[in-house]
Amino acid sequence: MPSLTAQQTLPTPAGEPHIHYLDGQLHIEAVPVAALAKSLGTPLYCYSKSALVAAWQAYWQAASGRDILICYGMKANSNLAILQLFAKFGSGFDIVSGGELQRVLAAGGDPRKVVFSGVGKQAWEMSLALKAGVKCFNVESTAELRRLSEVATGLGQQAPVSLRVNPDVDAQTHPYISTGLKENKFGIAIEDALDAYRFAKTLPGLKIVGVDCHIGSQITEVSPYLDALGKLINLIQTLQHDGIALTHLDLGGGLGIRYDDEKPLAPKDLLDAVFAELNKHGLSHLQLVLEPGRSLVGNAGLLLTEVQYLKHTEDKHFAIVDAAMNDLMRPALYQAWHGVLAASPRHDTKPITYDIVGPVCESADWLAKNRSLCIQEGDLLALESAGAYGFVMASHYNARPRPAEVLVDGPTWQVIRERETFEDLIRAERLLDL
Ligand code: LLP
Repeated sequence: MPSLTAQQTLPTPAGEPHIHYLDGQLHIEAVPVAALAKSLGTPLYCYSKSALVAAWQAYWQAASGRDILICYGMKANSNLAILQLFAKFGSGFDIVSGGELQRVLAAGGDPRKVVFSGVGKQAWEMSLALKAGVKCFNVESTAELRRLSEVATGLGQQAPVSLRVNPDVDAQTHPYISTGLKENKFGIAIEDALDAYRFAKTLPGLKIVGVDCHIGSQITEVSPYLDALGKLINLIQTLQHDGIALTHLDLGGGLGIRYDDEKPLAPKDLLDAVFAELNKHGLSHLQLVLEPGRSLVGNAGLLLTEVQYLKHTEDKHFAIVDAAMNDLMRPALYQAWHGVLAASPRHDTKPITYDIVGPVCESADWLAKNRSLCIQEGDLLALESAGAYGFVMASHYNARPRPAEVLVDGPTWQVIRERETFEDLIRAERLLDL
């Protein structure tokens, strides 16, 4: 990979060495992003393969010598090529729908390494997963236990289950991505878990194999994990006394990444702390399952967009770009912060503080606010940390085809999703017989 040129005037990309400036040009690995935009157009999602590899290795190395299954939380980015890469690394997958299972299978993933999460699994999805032979269903209610047992019995099978327990801990993250509090819809309240396990044991179509929790996303401290783990350990010990032995413990996903100045927790810090607790309580025989999504893909991605117009009003300066909330929804939905980098930073104009907004007819259609930039119409910008919950949350709002996606590998790149066309948008629609 080309070496970094230390240019004091250039901004520092968000914690990702695979995205960097070389000779004044923003590169993803060895490819100038301007070359990608020229060839593939904008808006464009680009991902660095070596960043994906490095993120995977951070988990893998931290896991070394321990019984761990990493099930990539594929809702973060479910492009088939990305799934194929993770499958090749040996990853399992955390899925939340029948569609996600079909994606795993289409990408060559191993269904025996799939855990199926989600509060609203339908009978057809359970049946699909049972036929595929998934590792485990993370069940979120007694009603779901009942339905799963029926579906499994109908197929002459026993479904492997974990109960997703809601440990009532505060993950100290954005309320929309916090899932482990009592008020959230997720999981079975920790105080009801023993009864739910006893109930599951009575159902003929179920085989109890584990316990699961997922307390939230973009977590940057180890303490919420340890709070949750402490409660799960108590539960596991109570279950042992009750004659219910588990073989795995799933702590979910949630490790944060650097968007701005966060100091994310490294997988090793989490795993060392978790294993110390498990050893202390004589539970080192349990396999540890993790479901990381964002931390495997988030910082590997950029969303490239071209400045269309600069608009100066009495109160504000706007840079109107060709990407919008339909392409990257996180700012509109969570007021999320994504770094903005100029592909070719200028030194010929004075910096101005801009709001970066899209063409969609909503005031919520902004991608970044109050960013000091030297830009002109036609300039190329990159929104950082767009690898997770970027394309997957994109929509067609305002009849906007979704962007293309490209994977960069050293000096080469490959399109992993074609840009949509107008025909793609209307393919499933029918005119009336008027
Ligand atoms: N496992 C379960 C059961 C989950 O619900 C999630 C994410 C994950 C694993 C992966 O979590 P991660 O490692 O990515 O934090 N759209 C939001 C994030 C929603 C997360 C939903 N669940 C965002 O853009 O921030």
